[in-house]
Formats: sequence, structure tokens, C-alpha cells
Amino acid sequence: MGNTIVWLNGKFVEYGDAKIPIEDRGFQFSDGVYEVVRGRKGRFFALGDHLGRLRRSLQSVEIEIQQTDSEISEIAAKILLKCGADDCTLYIQVTRGVFPRQHGFPPGNQSPTMVMLARPFVPYPTEYYSQGVEVITLKDERWMRCDIKSIGLLANVLARGRAGRAKAAEAILVRESHVTEGSSSNVFAVKGGILLTPIADQRILGGVTRDHVLKLARASKLPVEERNVSLIELREANEVFLTSTTLDVLPVVKIDHFMVGNGRIGNLTSDMMRRYQDLVLTSSKAIGG
Ligand code: PDD
Repeated sequence: MGNTIVWLNGKFVEYGDAKIPIEDRGFQFSDGVYEVVRGRKGRFFALGDHLGRLRRSLQSVEIEIQQTDSEISEIAAKILLKCGADDCTLYIQVTRGVFPRQHGFPPGNQSPTMVMLARPFVPYPTEYYSQGVEVITLKDERWMRCDIKSIGLLANVLARGRAGRAKAAEAILVRESHVTEGSSSNVFAVKGGILLTPIADQRILGGVTRDHVLKLARASKLPVEERNVSLIELREANEVFLTSTTLDVLPVVKIDHFMVGNGRIGNLTSDMMRRYQDLVLTSSKAIGG
């Protein structure tokens, strides 16, 4: 239950009437950035973290918007109310706006295109969480600024397409024999009781879910290492899981057809799945998250 709600450049518009000019630089060049936020039971989880990352992405690509974080939060709260679903996703996208097509862009005097769209969340199959998923590994063919949440996702969608054809839930990407992240998720491994995850440098998107999982792990005194993780280490890990705003904590039980550990969801992963759900349900906030 719930509605798809669109806010475009300052106004609420009907989904079918929301149109972007063909010379929007988002369409022409993927010249823009985005965020995906989860709203549960009328409250956002970690909206403040997502807006912080949106600001960093905008700054990195030199796009300036007029709206303050509190203005965006207010609009987001209205959208959530109108959406009315118990569980929904809010998509925020900003592009450099509309100009006659040319690679260079005029500095200053920008009029970015800003879209916010909320829709009811479509849950993943329950077996994903009760049995774990299979993933494949692929070469990471993306650029070197994966820390920017750019709408340019061609390499990511191609990787996900290949995973889908291999009947895998996700593709884990590997750059120079080191694991980076999933096509739209972060990767964690457990080895000898230590929680490992690749460093959040320019090779990966520093996930909001990743940050919360790390905080939960540290709070429960679980040893954590943020460092380079080789593909071999991943394959030899006792447990592996993925994180994202839409997946939450998702257990991985097979990598490239080989079992992770004993092929069952591990204890630390189950524990983290529970802790993360508790966190999300207890700390979602209406504004500012
Ligand atoms: N993607 N890495 C990549 C490449 C991602 O696209 C995402 C999220 C993540 C996880 O980040 P977070 O925990 O902040 O959601 C990591 C979103 C959900 C998407 O594109 O739909």
C-alpha cells in the first residue's frame, strides 16, 4: 500500500506529468548525483547522514543547490507523509540542469534540476535473509571516484546484469585483486572472529549502512579492521555479508558457486542482522535522522 510521490524543482507533480527536458545534463552526460534514503513507519532512518553525503557529492562535482538541509528534510517529511507506506524509499537526484549540449559547463549561475521521489519499498524475497544469497565476483571497471554517489552507473548496472544472468543476487567487484564493493552495496567479511571491510577511500562509496554496521560492531567490542581485503581472503572468509539502504544486512553464502564457510548464515552475521534491524526501528527520526 502507498503512493508514488514526485517533487520536481520546487513543486509536487503527478508521477505521469513529471518531465525533464531532453537537454538536461543528467540525461546527456549523467552529470548529477543522488541519494537513496529509507523511510519506515513514517520516519526516515539516517536522513542526516544521507544529506551529508549528498552535500559532499555535490561539492565534489561542483553543483550548487539553493535548498538547505532543513528545507530538504521538510520536503522529504511531506513526501513521506503523502507516500503513506509503512516502508518506502526516497530517491533524491540533483543534476547540473538544462543547457544546450556541450561538455563544458558555464561556471556559476547554475539552475540544477532537483527531483525527489518516494515510493513503497518492494521487499526482497524472504529467503534472501533466511538462507543467504549467492554472489559472483567481477572486475571493477568503474572510475576512481566511486566515493561520489554519481548517477553515472553504467559499469554498476552492467555488473548487476551479469549477476542476474548468473542467478546471483549481487556482483562483488574486484580491483587489482582487492575487493571494492558490490554493484550497489558494501561488502563485509568475518575471518577468525574479526570483521573486515574495505577502506572507504575513492574506490568505494562510503555507505551509510556500512557506517552504522561498523558502529554497532565496535559498540559490541567485535574486532574490526578497515583495510584492503583480497579476493582470496573473501573466498576464504568464514562469513560474508552485504549492506545497503535497501538490502540492510544481507548474508552471502556462496561466492562464484563456492560455499562461504559451511554454506549457512554465520553467527556474527545473524547477530548483525538483528542489531541493525533494532537500530533502524528504534532510531529512525522524522526529520534530520
Ligand atoms: N546504493 N555502494 C554502492 C555502489 C551503492 O550504490 C550503494 C547504495 C552502497 C551502499 O550505500 P548505503 O548504505 O548508503 O545505501 C554502496 C543505493 C541503495 C542505490 O543505488 O539504490
